[in-house]
Amino acid sequence: MSLTRKRALVTGGAGFLGSHLCERLLRDGADVLCVDNYFTGRKDNIAHLIGDPHFEAMRHDITFPLYVEVDEIYNMACPASPVHYQYDPVQTTKTSVIGAINMLGLAKRIGAKILQASTSEVYGDPTVHPQTEDYRGNVNPLGPRACYDEGKRCAETLFFDYRRQHRTRIKVARIFNTYGPRMHPNDGRVVSNFIVQALRGEDITLYGDGSQTRAFCYVDDLVDGLVRLMATEDAVTGPMNLGNPVEITVRELAERVVRLTGSRGALVRRELPADDPVQRCPDIGMAKRVLGWEPGVALEDGLARTVEYFRRMLRERGSLAREAEPARAGG
Ligand SMILES: NC(=O)c1ccc[n+]([C@@H]2O[C@H](COP(=O)([O-])OP(=O)(O)OC[C@H]3O[C@@H](n4cnc5c(N)ncnc54)[C@H](O)[C@@H]3O)[C@@H](O)[C@H]2O)c1
Repeated sequence: MSLTRKRALVTGGAGFLGSHLCERLLRDGADVLCVDNYFTGRKDNIAHLIGDPHFEAMRHDITFPLYVEVDEIYNMACPASPVHYQYDPVQTTKTSVIGAINMLGLAKRIGAKILQASTSEVYGDPTVHPQTEDYRGNVNPLGPRACYDEGKRCAETLFFDYRRQHRTRIKVARIFNTYGPRMHPNDGRVVSNFIVQALRGEDITLYGDGSQTRAFCYVDDLVDGLVRLMATEDAVTGPMNLGNPVEITVRELAERVVRLTGSRGALVRRELPADDPVQRCPDIGMAKRVLGWEPGVALEDGLARTVEYFRRMLRERGSLAREAEPARAGG
């Protein structure tokens, strides 16, 4: 790696958000080290970056220590969708907690800045709308989502303790629902679910009556928020909400996908999964004020680009079904 360029480590760099972040950092002139165990990430997501002299990919599981020299660490590694993080819940908690300890230890040792990809799930099933950063959340510590929610909450605790105890330069982003190309086609998340079902000509599954709301941020907007947060002065730590505050019901989203894809599938209802939040919407006042950031890509445009991505994938591979199972991470 060159000595003059900023050196950035992206854990989970072969995943959905991580791969877009690697691209963005390379475009901004950084040397990028992507570290991933390919649990839910795919080499296809970064194949176009291999060969760039400023990009390097390393297979590594962050639950084990890592010693590299970098200036900035984006800690993105963690399966993000319920089907994936519930597949091996013990490994999910390990990735969040032990992974955070390993990456914070690295940041402390080499004096790097470190950004944690936290999540709106730290608010659980919120009783306050929209959620501001000072809301402490309503999380069930025993339910099937707890491995992720509590893992991420504990990671936040570790970040702030490293700052208090070791003056580590930390940033914590609470990411809300993000969508876009390179989402895993079978991750059970609502946007990819609807698009994949629509493109396969299947019925579209609505959990509950579809009146629960979500707010969706396009991946390029989200990545821009992460980069801006990393660039702030050391006094800015977050936690900071990053997401799109425009709320839409899940039913409305399904209807838009049907229109965009020309699907003839019907909307069919299923029972709502345990602890599924009924409403989720960020207050992004802090990000607007501190970063001068707000999402710019309209849902219609972002959805069209995402549909195009899945259409291409379907054309090239003949099927989207082969992507169903994550790789065994072990642990
Ligand atoms: N996408 C969203 O809407 C969203 C919302 C909130 C928070 N986040 C957070 O952003 C981060 C990225 O999410 P994503 O949507 O890109 O998910 P993703 O599953 O596509 O990416 C996660 C990446 O981390 C890798 N990984 C998992 N465990 C690992 C380990 N132990 N060691 C090394 N690599 C490991 C996976 O292989 C994958 O490449 C996650 O930390 C997630 O919690 C995402």
